[in-house]
Amino acid sequence: MRHFLDLSQVDKVELKNILNNAKKMKKNYMQDKKVYVSKSSNARDKLLLMIFEKPSTRTRLSFDLAMRQLGGQTIVINSTDMHLGKGEETIEDTAKVISGFSDVVMLRTFKHQTLVKLSKLIQVPLINGLTNHSHPCQLLSDVLTFEEKKGSIDGAKLAWVGDGNNVSNSAIEAAVQFNFSLNLCVPKNYMPSKKILNWAKSRKGKIEIFNDPKKGVKDVDCIMTDKWISMGDKVDKNKKKKNLKKFQINDNLIQYAKSDCLFMHVLPAARGDEVTDKVMDGNNSVVWDQAENRLHGQKAIIDWCLSN
Ligand code: CP
Ligand code: NVA
Repeated sequence: MRHFLDLSQVDKVELKNILNNAKKMKKNYMQDKKVYVSKSSNARDKLLLMIFEKPSTRTRLSFDLAMRQLGGQTIVINSTDMHLGKGEETIEDTAKVISGFSDVVMLRTFKHQTLVKLSKLIQVPLINGLTNHSHPCQLLSDVLTFEEKKGSIDGAKLAWVGDGNNVSNSAIEAAVQFNFSLNLCVPKNYMPSKKILNWAKSRKGKIEIFNDPKKGVKDVDCIMTDKWISMGDKVDKNKKKKNLKKFQINDNLIQYAKSDCLFMHVLPAARGDEVTDKVMDGNNSVVWDQAENRLHGQKAIIDWCLSN
């Protein structure tokens, strides 16, 4: 079974194949003036079920469109509309039912453990659409965006600036799997997962930690960030924002990076917190390309999951 749970769990070569397939599918889509429905796709006449425990704009739209363009169909359910979400049915029983109705499932959930548990019970491929621990689909598409703008990411230097969260965890895994350097500019109390940092170390990942963002973005090809307060974060918001203030990406900080450095944001953005309007809307920003590339990245992920 080909689950897409985390970048660390998919073989490097497979990830490269998925990325190349995403590029190929995007090229076809652009050539056919955005009406491309793959005739040879593995998703043709298959059903993608999407379950959301948290809100989503990009993930929901891009997965839905991806599946339609691959010639398949979709059903979206908010977990609060399911018996599982109300605590009225077990995950074991739910897994049996959804395995019978669908060919591939995408889950956005609060607890990563729920995803892992479901992956062991379900009889169809499962895709991580974001958990408190990681967001691999985002990073796969971000690598695609980087390579479109700058060429191979292999050997490039990127910086993650801001909160050490689920997306930064996937960025660390991406750095190891796609062989780029990642400068983590994150305050001490908001560091990414220790387990992932240790995993990266064991794989000789090029991850460096900086307390001063000005030093961390020096000469980088790309600065990545995300909201300081993630969905479901149980923190003192004002305190966290105060502690992250010097990690805001603004004109002053960005001048320490290469002049043609890309600015990436997972989105949605809290303008004025982690990034200023000027950087979001400025020449370095590729945030809208990133959002659009979720479509192409996920087409390739769905295709890979269904190709076994
Ligand atoms: N970046 C991202 O996953 O966005 P959504 O929360 O809108 O899906
Ligand atoms: N870190 C953010 C990402 C949103 C796409 C969150 O988990 O809310």
